[in-house]
Amino acid sequence: MSIDLPLLASHAHRLQATPLAALFGDAGRAERLLVQAAGLSLDLGRQRLDAPALDALLAEAHRLRLPSRMRALFEGEPVNPTESRPALHTALRSDLGASATARAAHAEALAARQRMEALSAELEQGSITDIVSVGIGGSDLGPRLVVDALGERGSGRFRVHFLANVDGHAAARLLRGLDPSRTAVLLVSKSFGTQETLLNGRLLRDWLGDDARLYAITANLPRAAEFGIPGDRVLPMWDWVGGRYSLWSAVGWSIRLALGRDGFDALLAGAADMDAHALSAAPARNLALLHALAAVWNRSLLAIPTLAVLPYDDRLGLLPAFLQQLVMESLGKRVRLDGSAVDTETVPVVWGGVGTNSQHSFFQALHQGTQIVACDFIGVIAPDHVHVDNHRALLSNLLAQSEALACGRASADPHRHYPGGRPSSMILLERLDARRLGALLALYEHSVYLQSVLWGINAFDQWGVELGKELADQLLPALSGSGLAGDSLTRDVLARIRKAQG
Ligand code: F6P
Repeated sequence: MSIDLPLLASHAHRLQATPLAALFGDAGRAERLLVQAAGLSLDLGRQRLDAPALDALLAEAHRLRLPSRMRALFEGEPVNPTESRPALHTALRSDLGASATARAAHAEALAARQRMEALSAELEQGSITDIVSVGIGGSDLGPRLVVDALGERGSGRFRVHFLANVDGHAAARLLRGLDPSRTAVLLVSKSFGTQETLLNGRLLRDWLGDDARLYAITANLPRAAEFGIPGDRVLPMWDWVGGRYSLWSAVGWSIRLALGRDGFDALLAGAADMDAHALSAAPARNLALLHALAAVWNRSLLAIPTLAVLPYDDRLGLLPAFLQQLVMESLGKRVRLDGSAVDTETVPVVWGGVGTNSQHSFFQALHQGTQIVACDFIGVIAPDHVHVDNHRALLSNLLAQSEALACGRASADPHRHYPGGRPSSMILLERLDARRLGALLALYEHSVYLQSVLWGINAFDQWGVELGKELADQLLPALSGSGLAGDSLTRDVLARIRKAQG
């Protein structure tokens, strides 16, 4: 089952023939398209939607049983059928599932948190000053985003660093400023089989000289033991949590160490606020469900190929990178759950950058380029600084851009003509603290899941990344001079590299 495109197409045709700005005067529009929960609001008022189109989308949400599919997620049903697994990231932060599976997962999450606390207390009592969290993809992007956004104001007493790329320059650059005797290293890898993390892990183990300050977070205890990390320095992950949904687990230990216990707890509490809302709010007032409907509408009905994530808060500079993985690894699928080909475009390309900087780089293309880009503007109402003029300027730019994109401005001079008609959503946080950030990230997680239900695809596998990994493994010996691998073009490049390396 997936969204009925022909049913919705007439609404899309009608609305595409209507100037976007002409929709804004509709009675009741603002109230209907503005929803609030968990310390944030979602405003879809500048989407190319009107009441009949929204009603049709909500009818599809009803037909596809989105609320009960959301319940299935929380109860630990196997929503990831290609790996026969549930996706119980919600059990890491809230206790809303009644099934034995969900309850067991929640109990395991609580036990792991207790162990994480005990290890955090040990570290806090010692002489360690710096923490390096080594991981990539889901074992990096979420914790890195949260620490970057909130670390400065956290009560944690450590400087927290991240190492992801297998490029040795990243390690060299990081280690230059660190003292091995005062550094602890967390190796974060659900599989404990990821090339980048294992190579960087070995590099850091050698650099530490003494592996007493080496910890692991993984679902693969035997591999961590093989690597030489004893069980008392390993925190668990589970196959029922996807990497890109895992920052709430011990994968986010770096967040706990940077923000302090209260900060980490508040992050989880904010996500739990959004969980409760996503699970029980009526569809027409449900932030996650409405966000998902707008996303699928833009992609499948209006054929908008990309989504720009535009945080107007410097502290959220890493949000586009986090959402790139969350959205594109989850929704980058071309077959449905039963293996049949989808009959629509699915994942948008996700990109973006902070405002106002981005206004002076790529916004030209947003306003006058040939391709329409859907935008998510994210703003924070109350700042955590005293520079009132700066904050007013920031917010005025945020508001101006979404209006200019939607309404445009006519000019007889084609170079100065702004076509408008470019839709956006606006998410406003009351302030940027751990609780609201937790809610924001959970909102996107739930929206992504509901988009996958609308398209009938699996949001929780990522088979597409495997082929490249296999080929890289085959090419590795060839790069050190032994054996042949790759097709004729790859071999040509290999030969040139070897020649240049002498
Ligand atoms: O290659 C993709 C991926 O499997 C992601 O899904 C995951 O977040 C990342 O690699 C890291 O995986 P791991 O935590 O197992 O090292």
